[in-house]
Amino acid sequence: MFTTVCVLGGTGFVGKHLVARLVKQGYQIRVLTRHRERHRELLVLPTVEVIQADIYNPAELEHYFQGQAAVINLVGILNEKRDNGQGFHRAHVELTRQVIQACQRSKVSRLLQMSALHADASAGSSYYLRSKGEAEGLLRQAQGILTTCFRPSVIFGPGDGFFNRFATLLRFSPGIVPLACPNTRFAPVYVGDVVACFVSALNNASTYGQCYNLCGPQSYTLKQLLQYTAAQIGLYRWVIGLGRSSSWLLANVFQYMPFYRPLTRDNYRSLQIDSVCDQPFPAIFGLSPKSLDEIVPGYLQQNSSRQHYNTLRRSAGRDR
Ligand SMILES: NC(=O)c1ccc[n+]([C@@H]2O[C@H](COP(=O)([O-])OP(=O)(O)OC[C@H]3O[C@@H](n4cnc5c(N)ncnc54)[C@H](OP(=O)(O)O)[C@@H]3O)[C@@H](O)[C@H]2O)c1
Repeated sequence: MFTTVCVLGGTGFVGKHLVARLVKQGYQIRVLTRHRERHRELLVLPTVEVIQADIYNPAELEHYFQGQAAVINLVGILNEKRDNGQGFHRAHVELTRQVIQACQRSKVSRLLQMSALHADASAGSSYYLRSKGEAEGLLRQAQGILTTCFRPSVIFGPGDGFFNRFATLLRFSPGIVPLACPNTRFAPVYVGDVVACFVSALNNASTYGQCYNLCGPQSYTLKQLLQYTAAQIGLYRWVIGLGRSSSWLLANVFQYMPFYRPLTRDNYRSLQIDSVCDQPFPAIFGLSPKSLDEIVPGYLQQNSSRQHYNTLRRSAGRDR
């Protein structure tokens, strides 16, 4: 029985949901982070210790894995500084290699890893998907460790970076929104379902050595998802889908924005493949994945009315 779990990437969107679920189920959790003080909400959870660590330092990794029964690696990046694959390689491939070696040295025998749908080391042009695929290859070769990996489509839920970002983009845009790669399809999967799979797999021997594609019950084009977001927050926007060359041009323009990049060249490359599954949700987890309508209105509309309330407070001079 694996009851002590060290989580890398436990401070992120999926990580927070996963840690909360593991706490509920009685696990002892150790979260390694680069910035402990930024994650005070985790510090108050019982049975969770949050440790500031350099996870790229093999000795530190080994030290903090000591005494843990399992490790869950959720670390991932969607953008890198330069468009040369090195950032993705470091965060996905090098880190996974070090995690495996540290597990071997500290006698951790169970490793769960987050990958991405259509991760493939040898196909496609996206550095993100290739590096995720390369990391999966390392897991398959890992000696003496029971591994399981998960490959979700885009993940939604409270705190997500998908619908919340779309909502912000829509609020700040004038009446017309140009959208790159509008016809790419996604099958959004609920974060609660994703973390349920991780928790269920942890102590289920049938999942050892397996990699599971995780998709929600329905697929949508990117344009439909943007229009869905607009409808949820009560905005009317005219979404103009861009063709291939205009989408690539937009990615090149955003690539060089210093602080906020809504689209990069590598995002464009990964958007050339539909992020949908060709099989139903894995039966082994015994759940029917939740739909957008069951979850999204609950947080997008709530955020929207909170923003409206804050605007009213500001205009009344009550936010000081
Ligand atoms: N969200 C999605 O729609 C989606 C879809 C498919 C796959 N995934 C995969 O699921 C995983 C979790 O996604 P998420 O949405 O929860 O991501 P997230 O919110 O960005 O969190 C990622 C975590 O990884 C750590 N991290 C980020 N960059 C790092 C770096 N360069 N070096 C070391 N640590 C770093 C951060 O921890 P600290 O800052 O505390 O160190 C952060 O908590 C990722 O592997 C992602 O690729 C996500």
